[in-house]
This record gives sequence, structure tokens and C-alpha cells, in this order.
Amino acid sequence: MSIKIYSSSDFPSYLPKLNELYDDLFNGGKGFRAKMVSHVSSSLGLESKVIELLAQTVEFIHNASLLHDDLIDQSILRRGKPAAWTKYGSDYAVLAGDYLLARVMVNLSSFGNIELVHYTALVISDLLEGEWLQDSLVGDHNVSLGDLDRVHNLKTASLFKWCLRAPFYAMNEKKDTLHFKLEEMGTLLGQLFQRSDDLLDFNVRNHENKALLGDLRSGYFNSFASFCLEDQTEDIRKKTKTCQNLESFYNTLGGEVTFFEKLKRFDLENDKLIALYEHHVQDLNNNLKDHQKELIHFLLPITKKLYWRNSN
Ligand code: FPP
Ligand code: MG
Repeated sequence: MSIKIYSSSDFPSYLPKLNELYDDLFNGGKGFRAKMVSHVSSSLGLESKVIELLAQTVEFIHNASLLHDDLIDQSILRRGKPAAWTKYGSDYAVLAGDYLLARVMVNLSSFGNIELVHYTALVISDLLEGEWLQDSLVGDHNVSLGDLDRVHNLKTASLFKWCLRAPFYAMNEKKDTLHFKLEEMGTLLGQLFQRSDDLLDFNVRNHENKALLGDLRSGYFNSFASFCLEDQTEDIRKKTKTCQNLESFYNTLGGEVTFFEKLKRFDLENDKLIALYEHHVQDLNNNLKDHQKELIHFLLPITKKLYWRNSN
């Protein structure tokens, strides 16, 4: 399925620097969220113009959040290229993010579905709350997986939930039980995605060669670090934050074998989340009309990509 995220005519041609920044930013992303919302939308029979609007909306919000996130995390690379703030300056990276959010509100309000506008504004607000909540956990040596799930539900799962729910709002389907089910599914997908992303920091299934130990070095225990450290002393927890490479992280935990045992247990825990997600998908089947049931075939295998990082 080919998805148009934006064309140069979406942004004023008299702003070449802004256009160049967006060209850098949008080229190279996997567009996973756009694919997801487009797939859900087309299973429901939405018109291609509406599908394009929804795909653009989710990618604009996601990319706006990345522009801001790289600045907060002081990450110098995004998708293997210099992060926007390093090339265009922090102030302009922030403005470029703000402008994407403004375009989202202009485009969505023109579509005229107030529930969709309201829900989208709530999701943007959740992303921001998640980032602030995450900041409050930096430097905390006793962060639990539960604390992190709360952050991830806000900063990561929100957009997965949006991909599932927004197409139903766009077709004026507002049934509470249906939206509740989709919300639960999006929460699980977001948690699984974030936990898998957190494993990249420890070079697990890191097919995209993301930089290692970034979270730990910035004083933050991500979900896998927190899982590894749940039965460790305060001293060991503090010591892990000084690890400069994976070898020393393994050693602090008690060796490489211990690390891989922890990984196996972590994967097993997440397999339970996958099973719960699959249960919800089967349940959703009962809420769909016959011609919409194709959606189930798209939703069921999604965790293989999201958690296990299989490319097919
Ligand atoms: C990546 O997380 C970032 C997010 C999932 C959301 C960040 C949200 C904000 C910065 C709030 C501002 C939001 C808007 C809409 C302007 P990560 O740092 O764990 O992942 P990474 O390794 O890809 O950077
Ligand atoms: Mg980041």
C-alpha cells in the first residue's frame, strides 16, 4: 500500500529551510503508524482522501514529537542522519515541530469531525504528559516496570491507540465498548513496541544498529534495565549507570549468562502481553461487520514486527 504523507505544496514554498528540514526528517522513516492507520481505515471502507488525512496526521504528530524528543534526549542521530536540532538549531527544530502540530489542527478541523479533533488533541496532550513524567523518573534508582508502563502508555501507546480508534471516529462510530477494546489493544501494542525499543539499547534484535546504552548513560532505567535490576541492591543499581559498554553491564548483573536469562524471562513476560492482545483482537472480531473482518488478518500478526522485529 503506498501512502502519501506530504507533498511540497503542503508547506509554503517561500520557506525553503523549513521544507529542507522536513525532507530530511520524513525521508527514511518506516512510516509504521501511517501504514497502520491506513490499513485500519481501508478495512473499514473509508475514502482515500480521508485515509490520506489520517496517515498524514499521525506521521505529523509522531515526527513533531521526534523533533522535540531528540533535543530533550540530546540525540545527535535520527534514522541514521543528523538530528534536526544539530543541523538547523534547537530553536528551529522546536518551531518545525510546533508547525506540524498546527497543520494537524488546521487539516483535521477542516474535515469537521469534532470528536476526531478532540480525541487528537487529547492524544497530543498525553504525549506531552508522558515526556514530563519520564523526566521525573530520570535519576531515580528505584523505577519499577509499573512506573515505566505509565510513561509508555502516555508517550508511546497513545499514537498506537489513535491509529486504531481514529478511523472509527472518522466514520462516526463512537460506541464506548468498541473504543474501550481498541484502547486496550493500543495500550498493549505501545507497551510491546516500547519494550522492544528499550531492548535495542542493549543490542537485542538491534537490526537497525541503533546506538547502545543511551538511556542508561543519560541516567534513565528503561523497561529492560528496570526488569534486570528488580532484585538488585541499591549499590548495583547505581553502579549500572556508570557502565560504558555492554560488557560492563553484563558483569554488573553477574555475567553474560545472567543477562541472557533475564532476556528470556523478559520475552516470556511480553509473550503474555502478546497473548492478551490476541485475545482482544479475537474479541474485536465480534464487533465488526462481515466486510470489515479483513482487519483481523492485519491486526493479529502485528506483534511479530512490533515486538520481535521480524521484517516480514
Ligand atoms: C521517542 O522516545 C519519543 C516519543 C515516543 C514521544 C516524545 C514526546 C515528546 C517529546 C512530547 C512532545 C510531543 C509533541 C507532539 C510535540 P525515545 O526517546 O524512547 O525513543 P528514541 O530512541 O526513538 O528517541
Ligand atoms: Mg529519544
